[in-house]
Amino acid sequence: MPVYKVQPPIGRGAKSITLGGNGAKSKTLLGRLSELGPQREVWLDLDGEHVIAIVGKRGSGKTHTLGVVVEGLSSASRESQLSRMDFGWRHAVVIFDTLNLFQWVDLPLSEAKGPQAERQRKLLAQWRLQPAPIEPTFWHPVGSEPATSKSSPFSINPVDMDAQDWGRLLDVDIAAEPMGQLLNDVYAQVQRRHGTRASSATQPYTVDDLISILRSDSAIQADYSPETIRGIRQRLSALSRSPLFDSKQPDWKAALKPGHVAVFLLGRVPEDLRSVLVFSRNT
Ligand SMILES: Nc1ncnc2c1ncn2[C@@H]1O[C@H](COP(=O)(O)OP(=O)(O)O)[C@@H](O)[C@H]1O
Ligand SMILES: [Mg+2]
Repeated sequence: MPVYKVQPPIGRGAKSITLGGNGAKSKTLLGRLSELGPQREVWLDLDGEHVIAIVGKRGSGKTHTLGVVVEGLSSASRESQLSRMDFGWRHAVVIFDTLNLFQWVDLPLSEAKGPQAERQRKLLAQWRLQPAPIEPTFWHPVGSEPATSKSSPFSINPVDMDAQDWGRLLDVDIAAEPMGQLLNDVYAQVQRRHGTRASSATQPYTVDDLISILRSDSAIQADYSPETIRGIRQRLSALSRSPLFDSKQPDWKAALKPGHVAVFLLGRVPEDLRSVLVFSRNT
């Protein structure tokens, strides 16, 4: 890696640098400082929540850095030289991978090919680090083509969608547009009939249940024009043919386990579905 000269020098007098906090309970090793001067270790604090953007030119190491963080967060490397975690401090790692890049995250460095891998192996020995394996699971949405034979299908349970999620998926604004307001009313009605998302007694429902409310609810017929109702019905009908919304299939929440890396390979998933997958909140 290139060596940079910055003023004022970073971390003067410190033995190592921790980003984002002091990492008293848990932190993960990012690497070493590239700047001129002593080769200080750089750590990432994991005590609190962080929202991090990694920016840089193409090839500057954004994806690499994400991979390093994943490595440190996975349980396999807990207690290793790559991270320090207090007892009981385990993260469920979820990667929404829109480029299907992380499908190779389980490939050990010892098996990787090419000059970069060779350099990394040398550095590993030079820094006296032991490689730590990652044992991820891979997931693809039911009905889409898997990016790797290792991946398992997952579905979305409609119960996990809120009005905003449906709006996003059908491309309507639930506050500002009549079609969106209608969708919001349909959602409120399905909650009345099947229970709210937060309650444990919620009965599963399907996209067809939403369509049937749309057709039969008398208040909806009275409040909205036939064109608005038709607009939403057409969009919901298209969705009901997608196998993705299925309460009987394994739910994507099965992928979330403390200390475990779940990679959602979304490279071949259409844009609107991707954002729903990322937004549909798990509780
Ligand atoms: N800190 C680093 N140490 C060693 N190799 C790195 C580092 N950062 C990036 N690389 C290597 O440089 C290449 C480009 O990095 P990459 O993460 O794909 O860049 P970006 O995602 O920013 O386009 C990759 O082969 C990667 O392994
Ligand atoms: Mg990249």
